[in-house]
Amino acid sequence: MVTKIGRDIALAKDLLMNGELVAVPTETVYGLAGVINSDKAIREIFQVKSRPSYDPLIVHASNLETLKSTLIGSPSKELDLLAEEFWPGPLTIVVKKKESVSGLITAGLDTVAIRIPNHPLLIELLEELETPIAAPSANPFGYVSPSTPQHVWDQLAGEIGYILDGGDCQVGLESTILDLSKEEPKILRKGKILPEDIGKVISKKVEYSKDKDPAVAPGNFGKHYSPNTPVKVFGEGKMEIEDPDSKNIAYIFFNKKTDDLLPDQQMVLSEEGNLEEAARNLYKALRKFDSAEYTQIQIELAPEKGLGMAINDRIIRTTKSL
Ligand code: TXA
Ligand code: MG
Repeated sequence: MVTKIGRDIALAKDLLMNGELVAVPTETVYGLAGVINSDKAIREIFQVKSRPSYDPLIVHASNLETLKSTLIGSPSKELDLLAEEFWPGPLTIVVKKKESVSGLITAGLDTVAIRIPNHPLLIELLEELETPIAAPSANPFGYVSPSTPQHVWDQLAGEIGYILDGGDCQVGLESTILDLSKEEPKILRKGKILPEDIGKVISKKVEYSKDKDPAVAPGNFGKHYSPNTPVKVFGEGKMEIEDPDSKNIAYIFFNKKTDDLLPDQQMVLSEEGNLEEAARNLYKALRKFDSAEYTQIQIELAPEKGLGMAINDRIIRTTKSL
């Protein structure tokens, strides 16, 4: 298949309406999209990603009314408040699904994950489409998510018809996932929106899920976001350079480079120590070094506060084994 890349919304719409897949930009990472009413498209998402069928997809729409009429089985005041405050934006909310939502999308669960993304090109496309799309991150299962159109191209060229080019992703890390389907709201995946931000809006204490049951947080287990090159993680300010003459190891620092290493074999996530910039650069750095010939990538954690907690979560997951 020939993969095109561009900003043609009419073409993206035609392909999607035809049951084909299109990679779409969001503010977090690129998604691999198919319309929710095409079982063929949804099956193909799992195939192209080599994603196990037990790992459900996030559904994206341009407005809350559409989400309510097609997906949400349990509307609530809390959902309305959160939508008002955080959408469009990097928050995914898990709610009870409508009966009609395909089990292919939800991996047979009675809940569905939903989000209104904050990217002008994607919102325009969703408004044209008049149907929501299911879109996991546009990477092979387990690999680092794509935060630029080039990242998508590097792995999915030849497998999908079109990449809608919305530039580099502004957040660069996947959305926060909040489970609102149970008695107690719980964070299933860390992201830019913090538990305390959510707690303020719904006047409740919001905690991280400790649930180890894959039926509750199916994507939260084991190795994820991993490059092929082995990764070794160091605490903030604790990076060890055992052999400065070795050209085989690549280093990702949080905010300070070192003169002991070649400029090419080191990257800094944010010279100013800015967490937003660091988040934007993390997947770029991992992918860049992974595509070169290094035998190991060493990476330093960010300060464990605010967005740094999501950055560190992703860094640590690069090393966990399945
Ligand atoms: O930022 C993002 O969320 C990006 C962009 C494209 O929107 N999407 C993304 O999708 O990261 P994906 O499929 O790579 O990760 C979605 C996660 C998976 O870990 C999945 O297990 C979880 O959401 N999930 C989906 N539906 C769920 C549900 N009903 N209950 C619990 N977790 C769910
Ligand atoms: Mg993913």
